[in-house]
Amino acid sequence: MKIIARPPAFQYKKNHLLADSVPLAYLAERYGTPLYVYSASTIRDRYRTFENAFKRFPHTVCYSVKANSNLSLLKMLAKLGSGFDVVSGGELERVLHVSRKAAEKVVFSGVGKTAAEIDAALKANILIFNVESESELDLLAERAAKIKKKARIALRINPDVFADTHPYISTGLREHKFGVALSDVGDLYTRAAARKYLDVAGVSCHIGSQITTVEPFAKAMLRIAELVRALAANGHNIRYVDAGGGLGISYKSEDAEADNFEAKSSAYAHALHDSLGGLKVHLLLEPGRSIVAPAGALLSRVVVTKQNGKKRFVIVDAAMNDLLRPSLYGAYHEIVPVQLNQVLQMTKATSVVDVVGPVCETGDFFARDRELPHLHEGDLVAILDAGAYGMALSSNYNTRPRAAEVMVDGSGVTVVRKRETMKDLFRQET
Ligand code: LLP
Repeated sequence: MKIIARPPAFQYKKNHLLADSVPLAYLAERYGTPLYVYSASTIRDRYRTFENAFKRFPHTVCYSVKANSNLSLLKMLAKLGSGFDVVSGGELERVLHVSRKAAEKVVFSGVGKTAAEIDAALKANILIFNVESESELDLLAERAAKIKKKARIALRINPDVFADTHPYISTGLREHKFGVALSDVGDLYTRAAARKYLDVAGVSCHIGSQITTVEPFAKAMLRIAELVRALAANGHNIRYVDAGGGLGISYKSEDAEADNFEAKSSAYAHALHDSLGGLKVHLLLEPGRSIVAPAGALLSRVVVTKQNGKKRFVIVDAAMNDLLRPSLYGAYHEIVPVQLNQVLQMTKATSVVDVVGPVCETGDFFARDRELPHLHEGDLVAILDAGAYGMALSSNYNTRPRAAEVMVDGSGVTVVRKRETMKDLFRQET
C-alpha cells in the first residue's frame, strides 16, 4: 500500500510525518489531540500562486473567510495583500480586527444581510456589496441614504449553470436560494440605478464549491459577460465582475499527487478571462478552499479499536463536531498514520476499517470501509485536507471542547487558537 501525504505541507521523513519541518508526533505530545495543524508556508505559496495566475488581468483576490476564519490566518493573508469575501457581520468584524485597511478590499455576499450588518459594512467603507434580492436592494438603499453614504453594489446573478459537485454546495441553479435570476436582473439594475445612494458598479456570481473542472466557470462567465454588455448598452457603468469562488482540490491522494495548483489556477484564470472576451472590467475572485484546504490536517489519536461482527472500527478522539464534512456531505478525506513504523513497511499489513469518532451518532465517521495500515490504540493519524471548512464548521456537540489550532512555519510553531476548556463551554449558560 502506497501512503502519500500532502507535500509540501505534510510529508514523511524517516517514517515520521512532518508539518513543514515539525513532527506531528511532537505536536500531539505538546498540544494534545484533536489538533488542527496548518502550514503557513503552504498557505502563502498557494495564495501567491493563485494571485500570480491572474497577474495579466486587473483583479483583486478576496479570500473567502468562511473557509477558515482563524484570525492569525486572516492576518497573514492581509499582509500578503489579500482582500476578503465575507458573508456576515461576524466575518467582517474578523477582517477589521486583523486589518482596518483591508476593508477597502472586502466584498460582502450573503442572502440575508440584516440592517445591522449592512450598517457595519457601510461604516467600514467596504469595496462592494453583492446584493442578492430586491428586498436587500431596498434595504441597502435606505440604510445608505440614512447616513448619506454611497454604497457600491453588484447584483449577484444566478446564471443557471450546473456544476458537478455535492448538491448542498452547488449554488448556481435556478432552484437555489442564491442570487437573482438572469431574467429579472435588468429591472433590478434599473431600479438600483434610480437610487441616489447606490453606485451600480458590478455583476457577481458564485456557482458552487469544490468544482474540479473549469468548464462550468467558463460557462457562467459567458452569461455574465453577455449581461455586462447588455447593461453597458443600457447606460450602466459596470466596472467589476466578481467570479465568486469554488475551485476544487483533489481529496484523494492519487489525484492530489498529480495535482498542480499552478497549472490549475492558470487554466481557471484563462477560462474566466476568455469568457469575458475583452471586457474592460476589474475581476474579483473569492477563493477559499483552494488556498487553505491542503495546508491543514486534523491530528487525532486512536482511542479504541474494536470488531463488531464483520466490521472493524477504529475510534479516534476527533469527531464530527471537529470535522463535519464526511458526515454532512459524505466527503472523502485521506487518513494517514503519523508514524510509518518498520513493521508496516515490511509486512505491508493493512485492514479494512471504519474510522469513526466517539460522538453518539452513526453519522459520526471519517472513513468507511477504508483500507488502512493496521492502527493500534494510541497511534496517531492525520486527516488530510482539513484546512478549509474544518474548524470553521466545528461545534460543541456532545459537550466536546473545540480542538486547538497550531500554525507551523518552517520549524516554528504558534498556537493560533487555544483548546477550549469546560469553563469556555459553560460561560454563557445560567
Ligand atoms: N464565495 C461565495 C459567495 C461562497 O458562497 C463561497 C462558498 C465561496 C466564495 C468560497 O468557495 P470555495 O472557493 O471555498 O469553494 N462547507 C462546504 C463548502 C461550502 C461553500 C460555501 N460557499 C464544504 O465543506 O465543502
